[in-house]
Amino acid sequence: MKPGYKLAKDIYWIGKVDQREVPFHRLLLTKGTTYNSYLLKTGKPTVIDTVDMEFGREFAEALAELIDPLDIQYIVINHTEPDHSGGLAALASKATNATIVCTEIAVPEIQQMYKLQHRNYLVVKDGDQLDIGGKTLLFKETPYLHTAETMITYCKEDKVLFPCDIFSTHVAVNSLFEDEAGYDITADFNGYYQAIIHPHRRYVRTLLEAVNEMEIEMIAPSHGFILRRNIADYINTYATLSTETLEDRKVAIVYATLKNNTKKMAHILRDCFQENHIAVELWDVDKAEENDILRSIESADAVFVGSSTKYADMTGRLEGLLQKLPEMNLEGKLAAAFGSYGWSGEAIEVVQDYLNGTNMSVQSTSNVIKTTGMTHVEFPVRIRFAPREEAQINKIKNAAEFISDLLLSAV
Ligand code: FEO
Repeated sequence: MKPGYKLAKDIYWIGKVDQREVPFHRLLLTKGTTYNSYLLKTGKPTVIDTVDMEFGREFAEALAELIDPLDIQYIVINHTEPDHSGGLAALASKATNATIVCTEIAVPEIQQMYKLQHRNYLVVKDGDQLDIGGKTLLFKETPYLHTAETMITYCKEDKVLFPCDIFSTHVAVNSLFEDEAGYDITADFNGYYQAIIHPHRRYVRTLLEAVNEMEIEMIAPSHGFILRRNIADYINTYATLSTETLEDRKVAIVYATLKNNTKKMAHILRDCFQENHIAVELWDVDKAEENDILRSIESADAVFVGSSTKYADMTGRLEGLLQKLPEMNLEGKLAAAFGSYGWSGEAIEVVQDYLNGTNMSVQSTSNVIKTTGMTHVEFPVRIRFAPREEAQINKIKNAAEFISDLLLSAV
């Protein structure tokens, strides 16, 4: 596929088809992928997103055959992940008059990733518009789809949506358009959603509210096929796949508390799950019968275990209960540790060790980052003293929301 393919009046595809089996987010993209970048050859020529870093120079050279890089006025970076922004350094070195358009969070990332501290930036916020000389771009911030700095761009006159990772497919395309692919791309489209977008489906629902207000004739995503036929069906697929099942789900929250701070954390977790229509069984390990707690754990879909720390260890009767868990078959359940502490919070880590000795899927910050790219969700959930400040409460809620999303998965 040669850069310069015309998609609409003054809109050109300038991406790169990558036939390799690319490692990506712990997946191997066996069908390769396509990095879609777009040139809007308007009165103020604009590039939307770039390509993977490996192809940056090739990308910039190919673009220079379509337009004098010095004429480029704007480079829109919807998402800073290097499969989108990787060609920016090569492009910016030629397009020296261009202003980089992105969200506020993206600015320091771009500056540091590509040593572009001294470039002009135009920071856009949700709903901002930009006149690019004959066309108008509308920007919508889409945080956590799938990282905090992400936005999407909509060209009003042509009714073309540039939604970044959303509505993408990881395929080294043989034809840019889905309707010329020669096969039904549903499996590729749904597979991409499940692998990349589904962990963030809470934010998909907000995105769809914005998308449903747009009249869209073409969806030009960052990867794979461009969609121009049955667009409503593709949008509806996202709506369906991101909808909660509201099936009966249950979380068991077990805690040992010294000064009621871990108990307060347990209550915040409980309230958050209940707001998500997930049943909760809450157990103070020093007040309830152990067999009742074990039965609750056995029948739960997710288990949170918390402890205060006293003299670098757990408190109350929690250890006796935890010692029984490895003997139980708890496969398929999610598990997480939490607790309040005053000094170093060793008990929370000891709880985590015990949970790791079971066959539950124990959540860790490391795994969350590796599987979703989210950096605002932390496991175990550690809070110093009482959970009073907004940041502390949000930390607890973020953990509950994350587990809720996994439990309410529709696919
Ligand atoms: Fe296409 Fe977030 O990477």
